Amino acid sequence: MSLHAIVYVSDARDLLRPADLDRLLADATAFNRVAGVTGVLMFDGRRFLQFLEGPDDGIASVYPRIANARSHSGLHLLCEGTIARRAFPRWTMGTRQIDAEVLSQIIDSPWSGFAGPPAPASDGFMRLLQAWTGADGELEPPAVALGS
Ligand SMILES: Cc1cc2nc3c(=O)[nH]c(=O)nc-3n(C[C@H](O)[C@H](O)[C@H](O)COP(=O)(O)O)c2cc1C
Repeated sequence: MSLHAIVYVSDARDLLRPADLDRLLADATAFNRVAGVTGVLMFDGRRFLQFLEGPDDGIASVYPRIANARSHSGLHLLCEGTIARRAFPRWTMGTRQIDAEVLSQIIDSPWSGFAGPPAPASDGFMRLLQAWTGADGELEPPAVALGS
């Protein structure tokens, strides 16, 4: 079965409390584990940027949950398509708080696709990976809780 990936940006609901985020993430992680979905969720205090990857049916079961969540609105799909292999195989949903400026750069970058082969990784995807790994290039840093 082929692997599918999606990346989108959305606006967090006003007055989203740390406890709400904790609950959301616990729920998302539990569901993703069963669906075989991995990825990362970045948050700048106002906007979410989420990258999801997994089997077609896993993504198909998770995405409507995200689209229907009241904790955010204005979902805007940046890119979707098939991927050759997972970029975040160990993260049922890694989370990280990032700078608004960095998040804007990721959004504004060209999103022509994900890493090949044969296609090279798009600028947007490269920036997303960079924002996650940090300057030291560590591939999978410890998760930083978005909530409490
Ligand atoms: C930014 C965001 C990311 C989410 N990511 C996932 C996810 O990766 N997997 C999943 O099953 N649900 C995900 N969800 C859905 C939540 O787990 C939860 O079902 C949803 O937020 C329901 O609560 P709400 O309507 O009060 O937001 C996400 C929701 C939001 C807002």
